Amino acid sequence: MKGPGWLVWSSSSLFFCDVLCEALDLGAAEQQLGPCADLLLARNGQSDELMACRVPLLGSLHDDRIPGYTYNITEDCHFWASYAARDRHVEGSSVLGFTRLAAFRLNSPFKPPLRRNGTALYIGAHRSGDDGLVFQRRHGLHMHLFEPSPTYFEMLQDSLEGAPGFTLHNYGLGAKTRRAHLRLSGTASRIVNLTVPERTELEELEDLEPEGTEQVLIRSAAEAIPEVLQDKRAFVELLHINCEGCEYDVVHGLNQAGQLSRVGQIQIATHLLEYTGPSDDFQEALSLSLQISVKRYCEMHQTLALTHDRVWGLPWVWERWTRRPRSAG
Ligand SMILES: *[C@@H]1O[C@H](CO)[C@@H](O)[C@H](O)[C@H]1NC(C)=O
Ligand SMILES: *[C@@H]1O[C@H](CO)[C@@H](O)[C@H](O)[C@H]1NC(C)=O
Ligand SMILES: *[C@@H]1O[C@H](CO)[C@@H](O)[C@H](O)[C@H]1NC(C)=O
Repeated sequence: MKGPGWLVWSSSSLFFCDVLCEALDLGAAEQQLGPCADLLLARNGQSDELMACRVPLLGSLHDDRIPGYTYNITEDCHFWASYAARDRHVEGSSVLGFTRLAAFRLNSPFKPPLRRNGTALYIGAHRSGDDGLVFQRRHGLHMHLFEPSPTYFEMLQDSLEGAPGFTLHNYGLGAKTRRAHLRLSGTASRIVNLTVPERTELEELEDLEPEGTEQVLIRSAAEAIPEVLQDKRAFVELLHINCEGCEYDVVHGLNQAGQLSRVGQIQIATHLLEYTGPSDDFQEALSLSLQISVKRYCEMHQTLALTHDRVWGLPWVWERWTRRPRSAG
């Protein structure tokens, strides 16, 4: 895949547009949807024309209601994951703006509803576990919060002190148990991909610690989840993941451990991975980042689709998957 040149790093910047402006944009997107869907289905549109259709098409892909089209992971995931890259145009549209789309994770009703007193796992709770508080209060869930950073874990403990219904775990989840470096950030901490020579002793590893990072423990989901849940057949009402790129490992690890099928609702914020290998320039590094991210994203979709249905969502924002009734697969 040739990396598109239109990818621009963008933080989840807030765009202030009032209600009227959003209504106008939604109206315009609705009008363009028909012709844009035709272009998509014909698959012979100039890429410029198709690029001009991103707001109506992505706006409708969000809950899979593009006329005449149904999202097909095997055939189309790579296309959509590249097409949905969050450049300025996408981010600036009030239909596709990050804040509007991310709000679904809290505001869109769950079908079937989350059962009171059920169990939930929240990966990447960060400093205050805000989403966890919402779910706990609304649905009376027992929340297991995971935050690998010792610094943020301490803040999380302080912030939730005395709140009932929370169990906190000071590690991250992944495919394998390992130590890693986390680059701390106020809004989005990430694992740093250090190239550590094999057989490095732990003390030497401390010396390699780059500035602004912390050593953290990542535990294999296969090992940690059964331990956390104790009851091996317990149903998990909700798995909520926002961990800056660790989502692919978490889903993979849970699936390998045979734990994914016992989860009712899965909500995931997906992120671009940072390519850290050699590259000629910034553009090439960006395009390689998109390439490895799309690959992991689509592998994750394949895995999720074994047991769950995609309900809503877009690449690089938030999405929800709901367990199919067992009789249907
Ligand atoms: C998706 O496309 C593949 C390959 O063409 C096809 O075999 C499969 O049935 C399609 N899946 C759905 C859900 O339509
Ligand atoms: C939830 O748990 C509480 C305390 O154990 C219990 O009183 C209540 O009946 C439970 N609610 C449901 C819906 O199971
Ligand atoms: C991290 O490093 C490993 C080993 O060098 C490599 O296989 C992997 O692709 C890297 N991941 C990213 C996101 O660059």
